Amino acid sequence: MNKIKVLGISGSLRESSFNTALLKSSIEHSKKYLNIDIYDISRIPLYNHDIEKKGIPESVIKFKSAIASSDSLLFALPEYNSSVTGVLKNAIDWASRAESPLNGKPCAIMGASGGLSGTAGAQSHFRQIASSVNMICMNVPKFQMRRSKSLFDENNILTDQTTIEHLNKFLKAFEDWTLNCINKKN
Ligand SMILES: Cc1cc2nc3c(=O)[nH]c(=O)nc-3n(C[C@H](O)[C@H](O)[C@H](O)COP(=O)(O)O)c2cc1C
Repeated sequence: MNKIKVLGISGSLRESSFNTALLKSSIEHSKKYLNIDIYDISRIPLYNHDIEKKGIPESVIKFKSAIASSDSLLFALPEYNSSVTGVLKNAIDWASRAESPLNGKPCAIMGASGGLSGTAGAQSHFRQIASSVNMICMNVPKFQMRRSKSLFDENNILTDQTTIEHLNKFLKAFEDWTLNCINKKN
């Protein structure tokens, strides 16, 4: 069977983002069974209905098409002020418009925080957004990374063994989740 096609979306635009690093580590640790491509959302403009009426921007068309052609979505969520980042919410808002490729799409969420929250607030808000656009979000296992700086090395490679073990379990569960969702649809 072909590997599951996953679109990885980081809610951080920061070059040394722990969340983007977590997605990169996910690629490394699941390469035998998942085909994860990271999508850069930095080119998506701020949503404005007036712009939309004039014509959907090329960057949004590309983003929606990348979502549509993937089997599932893997979000890495930084936490800003106890919620998801504005850039991520903006990208979801654009994608949710007419003929939304998010509708019925399986997804999972992970998050890396600098402190102790483990992005619990962002994850909880994300679930509300996911239900609004009818993404089918995996509930468990959860992946909430605390004190992220201590778990990556100086090149932003995940080196903490306990976290790697949990990541492996999480990604395997995500494969099962995606397959179950696809099988239920067919
Ligand atoms: C505007 C802003 C708000 C933040 N709010 C929170 C917060 O509510 N909870 C938290 O744990 N960290 C918060 N942080 C810290 C970020 O989560 C932290 O910098 C994290 O590393 C960002 O993710 P990244 O490494 O993927 O860029 C905030 C950072 C910024 C810039």
